[in-house]
Amino acid sequence: MSDIEGERVALSAALVVFGATGDLAHRKLYPALASLAGRHQLPRRLALVGVARTEMDDEDFREEVHKAVVQAGKDPAEQQAFENLDVCFRYVAGSFDDPATFDRLATVLHECDEHHGVEGNRLYYLATVPQMFVAVAHGLGTVGLTREKPGTFVRIIIEKPFGHDLQSARELNDKLHEVFDEHQIYRIDHYLAKETVQNILALRFTNSIFEPLWNRRYVDHVQITVAEKLGVEHRGSFYEQAGALRDIVQNHVMQVLALTAMEPPASFHADPIRDEKVKVLRSVRPFDDETLPERVVRGQYTAGVIDGEEVPGYREEEGVSPASKTETFLALEFEIDNWRWAGVPFYVRTGKRLPKRVTEVVLRYKQVPFLPLPRTAIDSVEPNEMVLRIQPDEGIELWFAVKVPGSPFRVRTQKLDFSYSRAFAEQPPEAYERVLFDALAGDPTLFIREDEVEQAWRIVQPLIDAFREGRVPLSFYPAGSWGPREADALLSSDDTWRNP
Ligand SMILES: NC(=O)c1ccc[n+]([C@@H]2O[C@H](COP(=O)([O-])OP(=O)(O)OC[C@H]3O[C@@H](n4cnc5c(N)ncnc54)[C@H](OP(=O)(O)O)[C@@H]3O)[C@@H](O)[C@H]2O)c1
Repeated sequence: MSDIEGERVALSAALVVFGATGDLAHRKLYPALASLAGRHQLPRRLALVGVARTEMDDEDFREEVHKAVVQAGKDPAEQQAFENLDVCFRYVAGSFDDPATFDRLATVLHECDEHHGVEGNRLYYLATVPQMFVAVAHGLGTVGLTREKPGTFVRIIIEKPFGHDLQSARELNDKLHEVFDEHQIYRIDHYLAKETVQNILALRFTNSIFEPLWNRRYVDHVQITVAEKLGVEHRGSFYEQAGALRDIVQNHVMQVLALTAMEPPASFHADPIRDEKVKVLRSVRPFDDETLPERVVRGQYTAGVIDGEEVPGYREEEGVSPASKTETFLALEFEIDNWRWAGVPFYVRTGKRLPKRVTEVVLRYKQVPFLPLPRTAIDSVEPNEMVLRIQPDEGIELWFAVKVPGSPFRVRTQKLDFSYSRAFAEQPPEAYERVLFDALAGDPTLFIREDEVEQAWRIVQPLIDAFREGRVPLSFYPAGSWGPREADALLSSDDTWRNP
């Protein structure tokens, strides 16, 4: 990552938010700008340009942004730092499918260059509905706003979802490439911007003690859990189209899996890291029709109890069909066909309305070949485990057997626990702070390259087809449980999912 080479600088620019009145802009982007202001990481000259259909003027927009920062509960010092900053607020009302919107935007951006010194640099943020991604990119292209003049940058940040299957992702890439070069496109996976996801690289490739044990010789299997306590909230109609496969597996899980399984990169720069991620994604064995039903469990939550509170089933949620077949839970077995991982299953489970919000990667090691102890001396000797806790309470656990104090001689498994919050006083930046800062500084390491997106869709496409054709049955689980019982049978008979 380029920040290992020292101070990076966010360059003066116009940040144009397409979808300036939307949920993402209000809850994440504007508060992230205030945090960056508090850390003195915003550029010297910044124009914030909002674009959406709702009518308002520049002053209304300025007020709306500041209100969003207050509502997000930002620290007063950060709010003040943001207020003090010399940001030029501009707003363009118009539809993304109306060419006149882009003419007006071109005039506004020209004025920002002239009067606010943003030097022709532009960062476009597509915080809008995915159906509008191409319309915005082409609207910008038509008025010449995608070209980088010498000494300036023009970048575009694209939110997920990046397509809804392999073909649509390829088409979207093609359409974007008609007006933007690949180096200008920053595709977000906000998981990658989490410090602990990046720490997988630091842990693996800057320590000598772990990497030798990070392979098929020692690792029995890997478990990746992305569990959410929440249901679909107000996103029912969106989730109906996505399900756990598109919402979590195709993007976040694939990224975590790639970082866990990839080979060492030539350097911690964007392309060497992304090259290795693509390489390992290419090695993920495709799901074939014959074995697919044995390697996949689909579930949907029914009514249940979470933290003592009764919650409705998925089919009773707002915006969800009462006969919905959308999965809110998936357990999957991936195989990676390469020298490091051949024969080591990567078990993934993700779901909504599970008992806990937790994301973690577990390397479960092989049992010792022989225990030179009588059974009476063994309280419990579980296989060694390395647990990378990604959220919450970010940290690393190492589980190993130790002698229980006193006599007679007995052993028991205990953990060595590293916690980020105990080790470091400073708060890591939120994912969206990191995303905005890196894009302004021109560091694409934590963004997804075209070939990565397509590889991830290649892996999940057979699942999309099988789910659509009803070839994987839907099981049910009560909200507040760890998913359908069938998920336990995915693991080999002497293994269990780790209880986080
Ligand atoms: N919300 C989140 O937490 C979240 C998290 C991760 C990813 N995302 C992704 O972020 C993107 C935005 O999500 P969101 O939740 O913010 O959606 P949203 O609340 O529905 O906002 C959509 C925005 O786009 C504008 N818009 C829609 N159609 C338009 C058109 N034809 N012309 C001009 N403006 C138009 C809307 O403004 P007007 O109605 O004023 O035109 C609004 O500002 C999506 O791709 C979503 O998947 C969101």
